Amino acid sequence: MPNDIKKAAIILAAGQGTRMKSALPKVLHRVGGKPLIGWALDLARTCGCAPSVVVVAPAMADVCAVVADRWPEAATAVQAAPRGTADAVKAARAALAEFEGDVVVLYGDAPLVRAETVEAMFALRRAHGGLVVLGFEPADPTGYGRLILDADGAVARIVEERDASDEERRVRFCNSGLIVADARQLFQLLSMVGNGNAKGEFYLTDVVGLARSAGFKTRAARAEESEVLGVNSRVDLAAAEAAFQARARRAALEAGVTMIAPDTVYFSHDTRIGQDVTIEPNVYFGEGVTIGAGTVIHAHCHFERAEIGEQCEVGPFARFRPKAKLSRKVKIGNFVEVKNANLGEGVKANHLAYIGDADIGARSNIGAGAITCNYDGYRKHRTTIGEDVFIGSNTALVAPITIEARAYTAAGSVIAKHPVAAGDLGFNRAARDDRRGWADAFRARMEAEKASGSKKDESQ
Ligand code: UD1
Ligand code: MG
Repeated sequence: MPNDIKKAAIILAAGQGTRMKSALPKVLHRVGGKPLIGWALDLARTCGCAPSVVVVAPAMADVCAVVADRWPEAATAVQAAPRGTADAVKAARAALAEFEGDVVVLYGDAPLVRAETVEAMFALRRAHGGLVVLGFEPADPTGYGRLILDADGAVARIVEERDASDEERRVRFCNSGLIVADARQLFQLLSMVGNGNAKGEFYLTDVVGLARSAGFKTRAARAEESEVLGVNSRVDLAAAEAAFQARARRAALEAGVTMIAPDTVYFSHDTRIGQDVTIEPNVYFGEGVTIGAGTVIHAHCHFERAEIGEQCEVGPFARFRPKAKLSRKVKIGNFVEVKNANLGEGVKANHLAYIGDADIGARSNIGAGAITCNYDGYRKHRTTIGEDVFIGSNTALVAPITIEARAYTAAGSVIAKHPVAAGDLGFNRAARDDRRGWADAFRARMEAEKASGSKKDESQ
């Protein structure tokens, strides 16, 4: 068979997911920050499948909207009623009318299948023709279809548990549901599938026996149970999340990231961490985060759509919100929040600051308690700080505002309206007005009052 065979994917997602007990369709629940359906679509994309067809139920406009928005290359098809997996695959037929080549059937609720596994199935089909299913040996086979093998190791048929004999139920090699076939052959076989079974449904699994009778080869590839885990409940969702995190942590460690307590570090599907980054315990990466090589992340930091440069040092207890962008060697200390801000090389904000909607030039220092007042209740405004600026502690920078290069602001100043010019000191605080001896006099008065008050108490 030639090597340039086209590939397509059919992703089954018409199940209602009632066990999730959720207003959200099951396949829009997330693992590693990505909707379940997205895992199947990205898997199909990685394996070179085009088109991908997602099969949904009639009331799943929100699933279609997410697919159209984030995976515009994919098509959606509607299965009118839940008549079984064979009927669901058939619903994709029209969308694949023009397609000639191999097709893989994936489940929209199984986020952990690896591209290597699907590639291996396509390769098996390329080598032997016919049909390839994916089997696994679960710790507990209850509920799964069983793969009944011939003496020569080919799959004779798949039998659903409800329809299986006692002997067949003792088989531990189970059906994951994934299947690779020639698209045309698959749809031909599907037209022969009936619903004379325990559930009265059209089973996709019946195509294996039918293929066998028609003289096609039917083979099984193998996967680990953890890889084919399907999400049916929140318990499954948490298990899938845990499996994803375990995978992401291992990948980071293998790529040269140091983690003191990897089990306490949470990744997203797209987190990118450079070499020789050190991550202390309890760190959370939301979607869209990049960390440059050699950076140290101290304990208890939270990141979301942020880009941290090389050799930075951040945290403990620092928060990076969308569009926080740190150049090299930036230092961000405890209780500092950065949002939609560009920080130049060597900028320091070591304690207790809010930097939002700002541009800060190289080597500038932001003092403790300094705040960009970026929001007036209606609009957001920018703060522009030049290079080598020193923002004194507790400066309130009322945006829009500019502090030019090399300027200082005096601690406690409210800096509004006019820019502070290059090399100047921005100074805005009330003149001091000390009262000589006030504190001692106040204390004496209070002590006297306390003494006379307690005498009164005793007399009562
Ligand atoms: C199916 C397999 C079984 C396998 C198991 C693995 C069949 C007949 N059985 O059983 O051999 O061991 O998966 O988890 O295929 N779906 C639709 N429309 C439908 C029915 C299902 O889109 O009418 C979708 C579901 O959303 C789900 C997938 O197909 O993503 C599998 O359906 P499910 O009902 O979970 O099949 P099982 O009975 O678990
Ligand atoms: Mg199932």
